[in-house]
Amino acid sequence: MGQPTPDRNHADWWRSAVIYQVYVRSFADGDGDGTGDLAGVRAKLPYLADLGVDALWFNPWYLSPMKDGGYDVADYRSIDPAFGTLAEAEKLIAEARELGIRTIVDIVPNHVSDQHPWFRAALAGGPERELFHFRPGRGAHGELPPNDWRSEFGGPAWTRLPDGDWYLHLFAPEQPDLNWDHPAVRQEHEDILRFWFERGVAGVRIDSAALLAKDPRLPDFTEGRDPHPYVDRDELHDVYRGWRAVADEYGGVFVGEVWLPDTERFARYLRPDELHTAFNFSFMTCPWDAQRLRTSIDDTLAEHAPVGAPATWVLCNHDVTRTVTRYGRTDTGFDFATKAFGTPTDLALGTRRARAAALLSLALPGAVYVYQGEELGLPEADIPLDRIEDPMHARSGGVDPGRDGCRVPLPWTADAPHAGFGGEPWLPQPAGWASYAADRQAADPDSMLTLYREAIRLRPAFGHGPLAWLPAPEGVLAFTRERTGATCVVNLADAPAELPAHTRVLLSSGPLDARGRLPKDTAVWLRA
Ligand code: NOJ
Repeated sequence: MGQPTPDRNHADWWRSAVIYQVYVRSFADGDGDGTGDLAGVRAKLPYLADLGVDALWFNPWYLSPMKDGGYDVADYRSIDPAFGTLAEAEKLIAEARELGIRTIVDIVPNHVSDQHPWFRAALAGGPERELFHFRPGRGAHGELPPNDWRSEFGGPAWTRLPDGDWYLHLFAPEQPDLNWDHPAVRQEHEDILRFWFERGVAGVRIDSAALLAKDPRLPDFTEGRDPHPYVDRDELHDVYRGWRAVADEYGGVFVGEVWLPDTERFARYLRPDELHTAFNFSFMTCPWDAQRLRTSIDDTLAEHAPVGAPATWVLCNHDVTRTVTRYGRTDTGFDFATKAFGTPTDLALGTRRARAAALLSLALPGAVYVYQGEELGLPEADIPLDRIEDPMHARSGGVDPGRDGCRVPLPWTADAPHAGFGGEPWLPQPAGWASYAADRQAADPDSMLTLYREAIRLRPAFGHGPLAWLPAPEGVLAFTRERTGATCVVNLADAPAELPAHTRVLLSSGPLDARGRLPKDTAVWLRA
């Protein structure tokens, strides 16, 4: 399939966009109550425009009891009062668009909050029970869950009600799963999509996109492994074809949260009448190792090619260990199962690698996601135990540190209280946080922020052509993008690397050595 040539105002903008992820609660606090809000985001739009991003993806900003950071939605058509109002969201969408920045909202179709009117009506015994998965228990008195499924956050995926029935929740008990076999569930989500497209959003991120459909028999996991009783079931594709038809009415685009190791199954979601893009978790979890990164890049491009979808490149998000911390550890990959308190970390090393990884990902063909604070090089924070809110921590029996360490309110102004975030932050900022403040970094030519700004500004030099690997010593990644002569070289080997022939150094993640060679854990962009 041919590669169209997108520009910022082109309908194909999403094929090569830089998309900045805003975790509203921790971005900027406009009203001083310690929680980030839409006023805070509006005030920082000039910052985002200076950074040069094409779009903002907002984590859920809807009415929510916040039992899972807003992924427990009580009403999709209103903004949580802690964040602002619907009118403010509309203003924000319009103001961003005036600055050339599009908006992507986050829809969570697998589940709702237990405070959602549907679930409350279901608890009251109404016909809304059909919209969820209610079942009697097993055992002589129904005291055992209906099957052996486990919650993604630990513990059983079922909770029993006082009336004796159990309901399914693949995540926290406050997030009951919807029954996607029910036509009203489907209709409601297509209406929600229309609601937000009508308000000018350009795209939708789909939460837990491969989990919606369940085997109606709800068999034990052990009986139902193939096909899996709730992961990546074939019925889902019909749902997304319906969604795509809605999006096409508005020129909207989708990015799916699809965690699937099977690349062929993954690519099915990206067929031309389904989702436009999906997050690249293989790249995000890949260790800092030249061969493994190269394989991840090659596999990614190969799996996307047959369906004509662009790849995405992600280094971190609100669910995983921040990049500079991950790359500063012995195990530089990411795995939820191995997260632990007290993992030794070399932040200087991690930061050097994260700088190189930024140049690597921004030179690859496709769209790039930047999670707020990544452009500041923020590390994962240690949150005092009594302040951790993420349900992943409590439901793991306190073993898993949870995800709050990557969700700490941003530092904006070094000399202001709370590093300029606003009021006393809902999650504590660790000591030294102000040294990462955006204002300080903006004035420092060697800062992470300056690197991101420069890289996003220079990125068009790589054009829209395919990637071609160049010969390089072991441990060194070198590629050009066809028809541009722009080259990216990343050195992950111990020895400094000679640069290929070039006319100019466009940008480097760190200084070259005295002989003009590329040191270890450094990346450079060259004009050939
Ligand atoms: C994935 C989201 O990214 C995560 O933050 C959330 O906890 C789960 N889905 C459940 O919605």
